[in-house]
Amino acid sequence: MAQQSAISPRTHLRPIILGMLDSLHLGLVGSNLYHRVKYYADVKTLFRNARYRIHGAPDGLPLPPARLIYLSVGGWDAEGFYQAGVLDASNIRRLLEENGLAIEKFPEILDFGCGCGRIIRQWKGLLRTKVHGTDYNYAAIEWCRRALPFADFRTNSTAPSLAYDDNKFDFVYARSVFTHLTEQLQKPWMDELRRIVKPGGFLLFTVHGASRFDKQLTPGEQEHFTRGQLVVKYPRYGSSNFCGAFHPESYVRKHLAKGFTVVDYIPEGGAWAQDWYLLQKLG
Ligand SMILES: C[S@@+](CC[C@H](N)C(=O)[O-])C[C@H]1O[C@@H](n2cnc3c(N)ncnc32)[C@H](O)[C@@H]1O
Repeated sequence: MAQQSAISPRTHLRPIILGMLDSLHLGLVGSNLYHRVKYYADVKTLFRNARYRIHGAPDGLPLPPARLIYLSVGGWDAEGFYQAGVLDASNIRRLLEENGLAIEKFPEILDFGCGCGRIIRQWKGLLRTKVHGTDYNYAAIEWCRRALPFADFRTNSTAPSLAYDDNKFDFVYARSVFTHLTEQLQKPWMDELRRIVKPGGFLLFTVHGASRFDKQLTPGEQEHFTRGQLVVKYPRYGSSNFCGAFHPESYVRKHLAKGFTVVDYIPEGGAWAQDWYLLQKLG
């Protein structure tokens, strides 16, 4: 049998269809509708989700409804959502440990853009750490407040600021959040996160680096990226998962990491092959 080409016709068609929907201002609605119909037609995933919900998540905490799972991770699979959270929490622990740090030793931590608590639920056992989460998505935060009572949850606006004091947190992480911010909001949010991290404290964040570069960027966008420029696709839908920001390493180091030291950098780490940066706020 002939080998299938690595790039399928769907890969070529996707940006064309998305571009057409975007020009009609229907990108986000069209994409959400398409994925929702696909989910309800996917009997296998519906059945697997129902079975997983009946047995309950291994951590004994409730599972978010499928629509919140989708808003957080762009997929509907409840078990996949849970397992990706286990994996990401262990990646965070490992990255900290490799740099001589332990999450248990931080008195105050914040999950910025926590969604419906995929990662934060993994910190239930941190008895001496005050755990906080914030997101602009009101429905996700309402769900977190009810289901994950061990943490404090707040909502914020899509643009800064946050309702936390200066220098409050020992550790803040933003997992796949800068991946969805418009260019105008990238630096203001970084400044805001720097404001609330203690001097000597740490910020971990992830971005789309070069991993999906060839599949998701047009040749012109690839050229910008290669020249070290930030590329933001569909900025009209900023802060939603439909808006995708792609960060070259040089852009992060030159613009976003200002006022921090880059302590560690893991290209294409963890689920979704994003680049991980661990920064320390200058004293
Ligand atoms: C891909 S999801 C990741 C959710 C979560 N961090 C996780 O890893 O499961 C992106 C998250 O960023 C949140 N977000 C996007 N823009 C934001 C903003 N300006 N302020 C707070 N949260 C934001 C979205 O609501 C969404 O929950």
